[in-house]
Amino acid sequence: RRWQSSLPQLDHADRSDEESGGEIDWDNLGFGLTPTDYMYVMRSSPEDNGGGFSRGELCRYGNIELSPSSGVLNYAQGLFEGMKAYRRQGGGGYTLFRPEENARRMQHGAERMCMPAPTVDQFVRAVKDTVLANRRWVPPQGKGALYLRPLLMGSGPILGLAPAPEYTFLIYAAPVGNYFKEGLAPINLVVDDAFHRAMPGGTGGVKTIANYAPVLRAQVDAKSKGFTDVLYLDSVHKRYLEEVSSCNVFVVKGGAVATPAARGTILPGITRKSVIELARERGYSVEERLVSIDELVDADEVFCTGTAVVVAPVSSVTYQGQRHAFRTGPDTLAQELYTTLTSIQMGLAEDDKGWTVAV
Ligand code: COI
Repeated sequence: RRWQSSLPQLDHADRSDEESGGEIDWDNLGFGLTPTDYMYVMRSSPEDNGGGFSRGELCRYGNIELSPSSGVLNYAQGLFEGMKAYRRQGGGGYTLFRPEENARRMQHGAERMCMPAPTVDQFVRAVKDTVLANRRWVPPQGKGALYLRPLLMGSGPILGLAPAPEYTFLIYAAPVGNYFKEGLAPINLVVDDAFHRAMPGGTGGVKTIANYAPVLRAQVDAKSKGFTDVLYLDSVHKRYLEEVSSCNVFVVKGGAVATPAARGTILPGITRKSVIELARERGYSVEERLVSIDELVDADEVFCTGTAVVVAPVSSVTYQGQRHAFRTGPDTLAQELYTTLTSIQMGLAEDDKGWTVAV
């Protein structure tokens, strides 16, 4: 039995309208899951050329049914993306930020994980449909964004280790505010050199679901000690910065910015790429290279970037029991980049780079 038969179907007369999202407290969104109305589902079928995708549809948001022997449940054959839709000022629709980049990153990850992927056009269209169907859940301007979570998974049954016989592309949405419980306040990281996130030749550079559960042990331990999250070092030398569990990292010294080069062990973040461009435009030199923990300790400023995180200033990094503090606040590069980036994303500043896509 095909699991899609059990999906709640969309009644087209029943699309979301422009009403607000019920009783939701827009001022205290955080990053918790508020279920929305619809999700997008596209399933590969044997008729699709080369096991790709041909047609998807919006369905009521709800549980899905999966074979206990699906590739994703047994062998973690799965990828995800993170994106945000912002409400434009004055009721002028919504904006997505560089959605083609997410589509291409999923295609690249799918190649690594032996999965078919949606085309860029299919991906972007599906994201737009999901935003429109859930438009009453897009927070008011300045209160947050509608977070989109595209998933690609081996949904077909497989017992021996091999690519699954069938794949599902799904997008769900949830209104979100700030990622860290600190809100926009600076975060405190700890370097845990007993654990590593990725290794050369592994999958650190693609957004596979398998990269995320393995960081939970260190993250839970760090939080129990009062830290916000964990900063990982490379697994070979235990010396060079990689990334934080859910975001990329940058260090600033004078007019020089450095961030770990994305050479297979760190995620090539779309916010990371955008921030590199914005910092260069502001006259900073930005290098993507090996960045040692000694260099971080000596930095003026440290910040993290990611779709969920946006640009998060780091007030301290604790390494081998020593707490190192950094500059935060109004005159920092992190603050400037946060304002510039979110103004473009929210349609408040002119987008002369063509990064935003209207919905
Ligand atoms: C995002 O920033 O969108 C991510 O996918 C990271 C996730 C752990 C929240």
